[in-house]
Amino acid sequence: MSEDIQRRIAELSGELHLHIYRYHVRNEPLITDAEYDRRFRELQDLEAAHPEYALPDSPTQRVGSDLSGDFPKVRHPAPILSLANAFDEADLVNWEERNLRLLPADAQLQYVLQPKLDGLAIVITYEDGVMTRAATRGNGEFGDDVSANVRTIRSAPLRIPVNPDHGAAPGRLVVRGEILFHKEAFRELNREQSAQGLPTYVNARNTASGSLKQKDSRETAKRKLTAYIYAIVDSDGIDLASEWETLQYLRDMGFNVITDAALCRDLADVTGRLPAWETRRDDLPFEIDGLVVKVDCLAQARELGVVGKDPRGAIAYKFPAEEATTKLLNLSIGVGRSGKVTPTAQLDPVFIGGVTVSSASLHNYEQIATLDIRLGDRVIVKRSGDVIPYVIGPVPSARVGTETAVLPPDACPFCDTKLIQPAGAVDWFCPNPKCPERIMRTLEFFVSRGAMDIEGMGPQTIAALIENGLIEDEADIFSLDAEPLLALDGFAEKKVENQLASIAAAKTRPFEQVLTSLGIDGIGSTVAGLLTDNFSSMQELLDAAVQIQAANEAYANKAAALLDIERGDDAEINKLVFRLRHPLTELVPRYLDAADLGERLLRLLKPWRFSADDLGILEESLSSLINASRPLHSIEGLGPVLVENIVAWFTSQHNQAVLAKMMAAGVNMQAEEKVVSGSGLDGLTFVLTGSMSMPRGEVKALVEANGGKVTGSVSKRTSYVVAGDSPGSKVDKALKNGVPVISEAELRALITG
Ligand code: IVH
Repeated sequence: MSEDIQRRIAELSGELHLHIYRYHVRNEPLITDAEYDRRFRELQDLEAAHPEYALPDSPTQRVGSDLSGDFPKVRHPAPILSLANAFDEADLVNWEERNLRLLPADAQLQYVLQPKLDGLAIVITYEDGVMTRAATRGNGEFGDDVSANVRTIRSAPLRIPVNPDHGAAPGRLVVRGEILFHKEAFRELNREQSAQGLPTYVNARNTASGSLKQKDSRETAKRKLTAYIYAIVDSDGIDLASEWETLQYLRDMGFNVITDAALCRDLADVTGRLPAWETRRDDLPFEIDGLVVKVDCLAQARELGVVGKDPRGAIAYKFPAEEATTKLLNLSIGVGRSGKVTPTAQLDPVFIGGVTVSSASLHNYEQIATLDIRLGDRVIVKRSGDVIPYVIGPVPSARVGTETAVLPPDACPFCDTKLIQPAGAVDWFCPNPKCPERIMRTLEFFVSRGAMDIEGMGPQTIAALIENGLIEDEADIFSLDAEPLLALDGFAEKKVENQLASIAAAKTRPFEQVLTSLGIDGIGSTVAGLLTDNFSSMQELLDAAVQIQAANEAYANKAAALLDIERGDDAEINKLVFRLRHPLTELVPRYLDAADLGERLLRLLKPWRFSADDLGILEESLSSLINASRPLHSIEGLGPVLVENIVAWFTSQHNQAVLAKMMAAGVNMQAEEKVVSGSGLDGLTFVLTGSMSMPRGEVKALVEANGGKVTGSVSKRTSYVVAGDSPGSKVDKALKNGVPVISEAELRALITG
């Protein structure tokens, strides 16, 4: 018996060490938090009953570490403690009873109840009111010094009190809080990723962690992180009596403090509020994984002391897990309108956070390989808020040996065309524009709401039209006649009439909407708006794409001979060759405004010692490509990958044929005439940066209405840079290029002359 216990303690200790490492260091947990907690508690209980078997390095004797090799280490002024967990009311009642036994007989306990934020713990030091240091929790004793990164987070004040009316700052104040993504900021980040043609992030907490651990704080600054502060770790010269007062004090100093904390007169008051919190959870702007209950009176909390790494005076009440493990039964493969292949996990149905989940996103094959997910594996599935459930990873310890590797299929499951993986992409694509599945998806999208919005044309109608040979692509819709439609099942006269009317109506959709409907990878309505702001017709856009493609081919021909280099093991050289072979994404954006292209190329190509003639050839063809690309590349918000997608779409023969048919059928492909109301800005080119008194699009319209032009990037041709609040690097660039920087008011003065 006791041998069994000893063995179980050793087994649990070993397992937990692994899971702590996977969670805190690798960011790749193998089991759910709930399962981790269960095992941790089992170990705690066994060790409490049999302390003689507890191992000296037992995971219960330490907290997990998030230390990484990239940052200097700093020692925290006091241990950064962790919290014990409660999973139900009974746990809370036990917790209170234990505490009452440690306090004087007449002790009364009040509590502060607040959300437990699902982010990363941070410890920030202020000296005489100035932020001097910010560190991660690390192992509780030492943390990573991430000061430069935290300074980029606007909700973390650089100086306190933010409002000088709120008294003076203490000589020293060390506070503790949590860094996280608001759900909306995380969605926005992913929208931007998609707009740049980059993979999206799945887990907000891990992404926040990655953002905070950037080596270059400019990268952190690009992420909209938020800092909430909830506790004081150490201080000089302040005297607070309760948690409740502490929260108010932190608020007064100007910290971002949760507004939802509640002062509860007793434990019944706490437990009475739990159900409401569980329902509110999804409505909060940030993710929480439970609630924190703290003894309000700081003197009592001090008296209760610490057990292991957990203060007795506080406890985390964990919500039921939104993660579960289940068996990965199969993979289904979808092909989207762009040809992108998306694997979806078919799962043994499992109940997670209130719903039964039987399929989940697996993102892409690269991720499947990285996570080593195999068919038949037990996998961890997460469902949170409004995101599609997704597979976090496998549970390798549950393998029985019959699991099989998952590989991308060689050929498209719908048309048997060999799949391709474009250079640098994580996704696989079916390249066949006539693939029936792609056509079906293209058409479904084409007629849908935010696209051409053709009423009455559901998937069944589309399928019937294709089956009966009435349409082959989206353009054919516009030349449908009544007669063959009447011959279709279920198409009576009235229905045909309505259908033809809604098709006719769709021909007059605004240019922007038509462009969105084409379903070009990454070009949703926002990006389509950017394009129609800069191109007045489909033909103009098509011409630009064709010119870029021609310049690209000319470059490739010229460069091919020069780049016919033995590829060795030298990673640097290989990277260079890659760049030179993908000029549109790798070189053009870099050298768009370079005044000294020749010199820049000379520097870039130093390892090769090209002759001056050869360099000249490269420079000339790259320079033509840059000029051809400028109309697209200089549009702010249009990343190089999107430019590449646009060029690829418009230069495909299939798509050109579709466009020609649509043009012939009279579909609108022209931007509305811009209303010109003045000419005060005639011949001037502006670049806008920073936030202004009205949306950027409206300022742009104002400039254009007065004869001016707005472009995305600063060059010698820019007449003025108009800078609003917190302008970006464009102001620096303007100063460097000798371009005058003016305010919005000065712009208005120019307009009125
Ligand atoms: S108080 C000594 N309050 O949860 C008490 N912690 O599992 C320190 N957390 O490491 C913690 N929201 O990173 C506290 N409102 C909150 C919290 C919170 C999130 C995190 C914190 C801590 C972990 C404990």
